[in-house]
Amino acid sequence: MKFFLDSADLNEIRQMADLGICDGVTTNPSLVAKSGMDFKSLLNEIVRLIPGPISAEVVGTTASEMLTEAEVLSKIHPNIVIKLPLTPEGLKACKALSARHIKTNVTLCFQAGQALLAAKCGATYISPFIGRLDDISQDGMALIREIRTIYNNYGYKTEILAASIRHPQHVIQSALSGADVVTCPMKVLTALYQHPLTDKGLVSFMEDWKKANQKPIA
Ligand code: E4P
Repeated sequence: MKFFLDSADLNEIRQMADLGICDGVTTNPSLVAKSGMDFKSLLNEIVRLIPGPISAEVVGTTASEMLTEAEVLSKIHPNIVIKLPLTPEGLKACKALSARHIKTNVTLCFQAGQALLAAKCGATYISPFIGRLDDISQDGMALIREIRTIYNNYGYKTEILAASIRHPQHVIQSALSGADVVTCPMKVLTALYQHPLTDKGLVSFMEDWKKANQKPIA
């Protein structure tokens, strides 16, 4: 399973790059706004830090505006993936970009029919928003399972990128449900490797080691 960081915060992206488990980055207009940076300068920095797919979202509303923006964004670096909204205009733009072998991430997916359309338009990634569905008392994980079954039934190559992840259980359940990628905020990625028994176990190992007066290993 691939892990993307859902962030436009360069400090967080640097930390994840150091840890070596970050396969890519997803951004959205809200995250970019929060970073306070110019969008293109930010993307130039991110591509230097993470040698994987970096989703950059268009803000135009017509297919023609989206394609013009995609042109500019794609020129920044070959790893830039054009993130498009799941609207008729976004799908039109997706089809045009796929025909030119430009990678796309179709975002704001809340039902399986939308995911089917994105796959038909050749999307590289589909982003079902798990947390936002759970927020309104719908089963976000059921959506991942439905999309997995549909894509398997027809051999669609579009990768399922589980998004709007709120906690580690969303990551585990996405993995069990067959998502290809999960994009997480920093706090979820950090929470994934934390367990009180790990910390407790390590403390007692170190205490026992000291008590035995062992020589340093190196
Ligand atoms: C994904 O690409 C989106 O940026 C993100 O996962 C949205 O998550 P949110 O619902 O926490 O804003």
